[in-house]
Amino acid sequence: MKKVIEGNILSPLPVALVGTLIQGRPNYAVIGYMSPFDFGKHVFFSLYNKRYTWVGIQENKTFSVNLPSEDMIKEVLICGSKSGRNVDKSKLFHNFYGDLETAPMIKECPLSMECSVTDILDYDHSKGIVGKVIKSYAEPGLVKNGAIAMQKAGLMIWTTGGDFSYYRLGEKIALPEE
Ligand SMILES: Cc1cc2nc3c(=O)[nH]c(=O)nc-3n(C[C@H](O)[C@H](O)[C@H](O)COP(=O)(O)O)c2cc1C
Repeated sequence: MKKVIEGNILSPLPVALVGTLIQGRPNYAVIGYMSPFDFGKHVFFSLYNKRYTWVGIQENKTFSVNLPSEDMIKEVLICGSKSGRNVDKSKLFHNFYGDLETAPMIKECPLSMECSVTDILDYDHSKGIVGKVIKSYAEPGLVKNGAIAMQKAGLMIWTTGGDFSYYRLGEKIALPEE
């Protein structure tokens, strides 16, 4: 017999730092409930409406998605627990900008992308943010023949289903079949 578990078990999920610009200051929050869709041309994430990040989404209708490496765990823990309302998280990283100019990205992260908001879903306490991927940026040493060497990036994942811990990415076992 299977054990019944209440709620979501879709797991593991990537650890992402969503960047927004709020009154001219970059802010970053850990967003775990995130997914690419439309074959990766858009991304979707869930945002509790009390987050300071929500202020930034409304201000500029742009955001960034930054994938941190595990050596950034100290900063990730801060971004996932302290609000930009009380703490200046812009000082944790070196920031850079791409085409959008209002989607701050993190130099220390091996992978980043800038997105512009195309849709906002309004649920009880959560907003569903849909963004079009404008451009993505990778650490040069990670890209070979146009492919990103994910295993070299040192990325983190996190788990739902009651555990809610950070893990490191595992080993490659196969290529999907054509
Ligand atoms: C592993 C993890 C996943 C999280 N996922 C989300 C999420 O999907 N949506 C959300 O609104 N907050 C999420 N949070 C909480 C925010 O990161 C946290 O409240 C943060 O301090 C918000 O910062 P802000 O107020 O500057 O936006 C997550 C936190 C952790 C640790």
